[in-house]
Amino acid sequence: MTAHSHIPVLPEEILARLDPKPGETYVDCTAGLGGHACVVGSRLVPGGRVVLNDMDAGNLGEAAERVGAEVPGVDVTTVHGNYVGLPRQLMRDGLRADMVLADLGFASNQMSDPARGFAFSYDGPLDMRLDPSAAVTARELVETLPEDELVRILREYGEEKAARPIARKIVAARNEGPISTTGQFAALVRSVVRYSGGINPATRAFQAFRIAVNDELGSLEGLLAAVERAARSTGEGWLTAGARVAIVSFHSLEDRLVKRSFARLEQRGLARMVGAQPTVASEAEVLSNPRSRSAKLRTVCLCGPT
Ligand SMILES: C[S@@+](CC[C@H](N)C(=O)[O-])C[C@H]1O[C@@H](n2cnc3c(N)ncnc32)[C@H](O)[C@@H]1O
Repeated sequence: MTAHSHIPVLPEEILARLDPKPGETYVDCTAGLGGHACVVGSRLVPGGRVVLNDMDAGNLGEAAERVGAEVPGVDVTTVHGNYVGLPRQLMRDGLRADMVLADLGFASNQMSDPARGFAFSYDGPLDMRLDPSAAVTARELVETLPEDELVRILREYGEEKAARPIARKIVAARNEGPISTTGQFAALVRSVVRYSGGINPATRAFQAFRIAVNDELGSLEGLLAAVERAARSTGEGWLTAGARVAIVSFHSLEDRLVKRSFARLEQRGLARMVGAQPTVASEAEVLSNPRSRSAKLRTVCLCGPT
């Protein structure tokens, strides 16, 4: 897998929204394979700094190597872990961000690696951890959670109408033996849900368990809360006055959280939303990078005291 196997979404739009300048500090909460970090980083020289964070140590290493090679002259700092912990780490290190990007979800190299267990189109272990060193896999959730909790995950995170029948099927199947592979799990969902509108019936269930395994919504809420705290703070925060914060989300559950948080900041006079509507990919970008089809970019600029 090369450093270029993930195509960054909305690169021009992100550049325009973040408006990087030489000497500034860019914090990439979800470094992935470093695509966005290279795009933004190239505008920070001379004297700028790129802070790369990812909960996948492999991706973080690739991103650091790529930024080091493609953007000579920029300072690179790496932080491994969930971006929820990043604001505190930055404050401990005495760093303040002029720009923050969170490009949520998974990178293409994670999805296309059967061993990571994210995809129903390949058979592999039912894993789905973005951080391979994390404790809990999708298999453990599927095999151990009570039926009602399985229903909640499928409904809340997958918006799956057939949550109860799928959960019942899971419980019946696990009484017969382990549910240890993506192939088994996808077949189990397909035995309950039919194809509709060309969408694979397992799509929503896979999304639901990926979100649960990685606490994706809880992490996003934590990051948004840290942005709100920094916007209210008086010079002690991890964001500079005038910092720009951009978030790219890929489904409505995430976008709703971002939209509400940014609207709250604006209502309180602490930030200005850059554009009332989210920015989406052009037709040309969707053609060349189908993953961009569902991307929504929202940006705020902190204009209150920080
Ligand atoms: C969409 S990719 C980012 C791609 C990147 N912008 C690029 O241009 O290469 C998302 C990355 O974020 C990481 N990630 C997702 N949620 C995270 C979290 N809560 N904390 C830290 N990293 C996270 C994933 O491991 C993945 O590498």
